[in-house]
Order: sequence, then structure tokens, then C-alpha cells
Amino acid sequence: MAPIDPHSFTDSSHPLTTHIALTLFFDFPSSTIHGAAVLSLSCPHTGPLSLDTRALSIHQILDPDTHSPLPFSLSPTPDPIKGTLLSVSLSNHSSFLIIFSTSHASSALQWLSPPQTFNKTHPFVYTQCQSIHARSIFPCQDTPAARVRYSALLNIPRELSAVMAAKHVDRRPPIAGEGNTSFLSQGFGSLWAAEGRVVEAFVMDQPVPPYLFAFAVGELGFREVGPRTRVYSEAVDSVLDAAAREFEGTEEMIRQGERLFGDYEWERFDLLVLPPSFPYGGMENPRMVFLTPTVIKGDASGAQVVAHELAHSWTGNLITNKNNEHFWLNEGFTTYAERRIVEVVQGEDRATLNAGIGWKGLNEDIERFKDNLEFTKLKTKQEGVDPDAIYSQVPYEKGFQFLLRIERQIGRAAFDEFIKKYIATFKFKSIDTETFIDFLKANVPGIENEIDLELWTEGIGIPPDAYEPVSNLYTKIVSLANEFKLGRMPREDEVADWQGQEWELYLENLPKSVEASQIQALDERYRLSESKDYEVKVAFLQLAISSKCRDYHGEVEKTLKEVGRMKYLRPLYTALVQGTGKEEEKILAKRVFAETGDCYHPIAQGVVESIFAKHL
Ligand code: BES
Ligand code: ZN
Repeated sequence: MAPIDPHSFTDSSHPLTTHIALTLFFDFPSSTIHGAAVLSLSCPHTGPLSLDTRALSIHQILDPDTHSPLPFSLSPTPDPIKGTLLSVSLSNHSSFLIIFSTSHASSALQWLSPPQTFNKTHPFVYTQCQSIHARSIFPCQDTPAARVRYSALLNIPRELSAVMAAKHVDRRPPIAGEGNTSFLSQGFGSLWAAEGRVVEAFVMDQPVPPYLFAFAVGELGFREVGPRTRVYSEAVDSVLDAAAREFEGTEEMIRQGERLFGDYEWERFDLLVLPPSFPYGGMENPRMVFLTPTVIKGDASGAQVVAHELAHSWTGNLITNKNNEHFWLNEGFTTYAERRIVEVVQGEDRATLNAGIGWKGLNEDIERFKDNLEFTKLKTKQEGVDPDAIYSQVPYEKGFQFLLRIERQIGRAAFDEFIKKYIATFKFKSIDTETFIDFLKANVPGIENEIDLELWTEGIGIPPDAYEPVSNLYTKIVSLANEFKLGRMPREDEVADWQGQEWELYLENLPKSVEASQIQALDERYRLSESKDYEVKVAFLQLAISSKCRDYHGEVEKTLKEVGRMKYLRPLYTALVQGTGKEEEKILAKRVFAETGDCYHPIAQGVVESIFAKHL
């Protein structure tokens, strides 16, 4: 047994899965998916084969041709991070059929009851699989080292529709017995072709890591926003219209991405705006990016998130980190690529402002990990570590800094050529840090004499040759924040054309704790606690909590009940529960979570629980 990924039971001596054929029956009343999956291997295998599962019931494993049962076993107790090992015993099989069901503990799935949706009439379900949650929907070798093609038949109530990060091929009546459905557990096979059901069929012809598997099912609508882009969301005209306006510049960004990084290989670039409980800003699911509704606010930041997820089409989805220890290859490259796109479509000042917000975030997270320096490295050891628990700006912003350092060394023109060649060389492959460094050295001879590559990839903290971004706007905002410490608030004329990102940078550069009266004065003048922009509102509320200004507990509670994006939950819950002399804050945090935790995505629930475990 030789693992290839600290977060997976996949065994390096076993063949990898190359194709998965999924048949999924959605039972909304019980929030369960009853499924059948045919896994095909790269070559026939005899003996045990290890698969990842989490919170799944495995009913049967069958020979796909004869339907005779194959022996299997599940590990008796789940690993707290990896889940449950499923071992199936094969005899020269190159494929096998698994019959399974999901459960309430399936961590990738959030089921929303009708009252939890915008229109309040139909249920909704969606996935979030990165980093290691695909295994809670279907058994698989849940490591990005394994790239799979797949097909999927989704059987759903006729009044709903489905989207996937895959090509939509059909919406049609179900056919009794198709796709191994006669084996579905608890008699759901016989309901497959029942009245009122419909099948949505999809295929993903390009090999993708399992964490890019994604679907959403609900009462969906869409608007066309470009030749290869639609924006989808719950069918609410006001949401769809606002989203269509927000993302009208998408085609221009795709063209800029192609100019910089090579052809767009995924055919479509659709966007799906999820309900407010979506735990991330955006998720780069191929062909169909998932987005939080909080990015729709009519300024530059919505396009910035789209630029980031679009950039993953090259860095992350074409070239993928081999496992999460090399996550910076995904996010550092994407942050660099995102800022190159933003620079062209929104100008250099905006790109530098984003880099400045990132620089601040990097410094804060380096501080956050001062007792756990491993996670200030680009390449990290993650044996026994939950990727959701160590999510930070380090892979994004230190990775960005590393690439910027190389760009500054060799010049932009040479670096642009290098990146294009890197993408063309490794597309549809999963690679590690060493592979990147070897490629860098081979293509930029002597680079190791100019930049300490080992310090950058394996060292802790921020290397001395990292580069704090400078621009007039950035410097002005940081110096205004420094003046606040001396008691001067920015004048109205100084902030007249500030957007959310300017305020965000300003607030993040204020001291962590100030006088309650200063907080109130700032808010009286600029109404930051009521901002429609959650970046601004949360940065302000965080400051208010850490300054023990209790006037804002009502706003804090409201915010924690409105949105489930972890970028907001993490700092607010942490600010409430960390430190001493904060009984009132701790009680508030516990009560709000007890009242609302159920409405968060399971991944977000887990993150809040781990914040409580650390501080309470
Ligand atoms: N791939 C990430 C989101 C992610 C990371 C999900 C790790 C699960 C585990 C996505 O591309 C991302 O970075 N989103 C950011 C967007 C931002 C950097 C513009 C987010 O959600 O805040
Ligand atoms: Zn990303």
C-alpha cells in the first residue's frame, strides 16, 4: 500500500479510474440521492482496489456484464479527514458497478427546502466538491492525480431543471430500467420512470480531477450574456437581470485569457449564481463556474471573481495540482493570471489595488500561522491535515508573489512566453511543485542563480525579495489608514470615488483594535455597517467586534444569518470567540450558530465548528 495523496485512500499500485458512468435519482423529500456508478479502470485488475467514500451507504457491487456480486468491505471506523475506505475485490475486471445512496452527512451536498430558496416554492440542491468532498456523492479515487471522463443521468422532478459542469446532451422522459436503474436501492429503481419525473443527461468528455464534479438542481432560469456564456440562477427575474448586467464583460475577459494563456479548451463558459449559503466566492467548475450572489453589487469586484474562476480554466483545470500539498500551483498561478486579466480589462490601478489587498491578506495569514509555520510554505506537508481547516491566502498570494518575482527577473515578454509553453506542455495533466521547478530551470537557464527557488517553495514566511505592490491609489489609502491611528478620518472629498475595494483596503490597514468612539464616528460619517457590499460591511464589523464596540451585535447577527460565504463567516465568528473578557460575544456566536448552522453548507458548518473547538 503506497498512498499517492495524503487525502485519499487511492493506492499507487492500483490502476486509476478513467471513466465513470453515473445514474442518479434525486429524492427531495428525504434529501437523498440513490445512485449507480460504473467505474472503468485504465487496465484490468485483480485483487483489492481502494476507493474513497464519505457518509455513503454501499448497497452492492456487481460485475457490470453478468451482474454477479463482487465482494467488498468498508473500513470499520471512518478516518476523520479521509472518510471511509471502500475496498472491492476484483478478478481481472476493468470495470464494476456500485449501487449506493448518499446521506445527510454527505459533505458536498447542500439541500435547501422550499422556504430556504428565493421563490419559496421548490427545493434546491447543489454541490461543492473541492477539495475532498466528491467522495461523499459517489465512491471514487478522490485525488486530483486521477483524471476522469464521465457521463451522468440525473432523474429529477419535472418542474425542476439541472445544470452540471459538463455538456448538457438531453432533457427527456426517463426510460424504465436504463443505466442500471433496476438495481437502485429501496425500490427507487421502480420509481425511475414514474409520472412527474424527467431525465437530464450530461457528458464530460475531457478528463477532470474529481473535485471539479458539480451539479445544481432547482427551479433555474438563465440569460444569454455572450456567445459562449449564459448566466443561470434560481428563476427570479430581478436576480437574473442584475447578474446579466454584472457579467456582461465576460466574453472580453475570455478573449484576453486566450491571448495570454492559449485557446479556451472547454467550449462553454457559463456562470451559475447560487443561493447566499454558497460557501465560496467562486468555484471554477469547468464549463459552469459557481458563484456566490454576494458578488453582484454593480462594481468591479464581481468581474474580478469571474476573472479568477475563468483563469482556472488554464491554471487548475487544464494543469492541476497532483494533490493538495501543491495547491499553490492551482491558486498562485490563478491569482497571477486573474490580475493579468484584470489589468487589461479594468486597468493597472485596479489590478494593483487587488494585489495590495492580497499583500495585506498574506501578511495576516502568515501571522495567523505563527505557531504552525508549515502552512506559511508554498509546498506543505498535509498528512493528517484537513484542507478545509488550513485554507488561507498563503497559496494564493505567496504563489502570486513567487510568479511575480520570476516575471520581474526575466521580463514580462519572456515570462508570457514561458507561461504559454508551461500550459501547452502540461495541459490535462496533474503535476507537483518539482515538475514546475524542473520545467522552469530547463526553460530559463540559470534562474536558480538569480532567485532562491528552494527558499520560495520550501521556506517559511515571506522571502525578502517579495514585492509590496505600489501605486498612487494604494499608497494613498494605506497612508490614510495610518492617519486614522492619529485620529484623522478621511474627508468626504478623499473618498468620493471609492468603490468597495478601496474601503476594504482602508479598513484592513486600520489597527486591529481602536476606541469604540472612533468606530462609531467612522460609521456615522460613512455608514459602513450598512454597506450593501459584504466585503466592506464584514471588514467594518470585524473591527467593531475586536474593538469591543457592542452597538453592532445586531448587524453581526443579521449578517451571519444572511450569508454562508466562509470568507465572511470565518472572520466574524473568529472575532467573536477569540480572546478573553468576551462572554457576551461568545454567547452571541453560540446562539447564532445554534439558530442558523443548519442553513450553512456542511463544509461551512464544519469550519465554524472547528473555530469553536479552537477557542471555546
Ligand atoms: N478553487 C477556489 C475555491 C476553493 C478553494 C474551494 C479550496 C474549495 C477549496 C476558487 O477558485 C477561489 O479561489 N475562490 C475565491 C475567489 C477569489 C480569490 C476571487 C473565493 O471563493 O473567495
Ligand atoms: Zn481559485
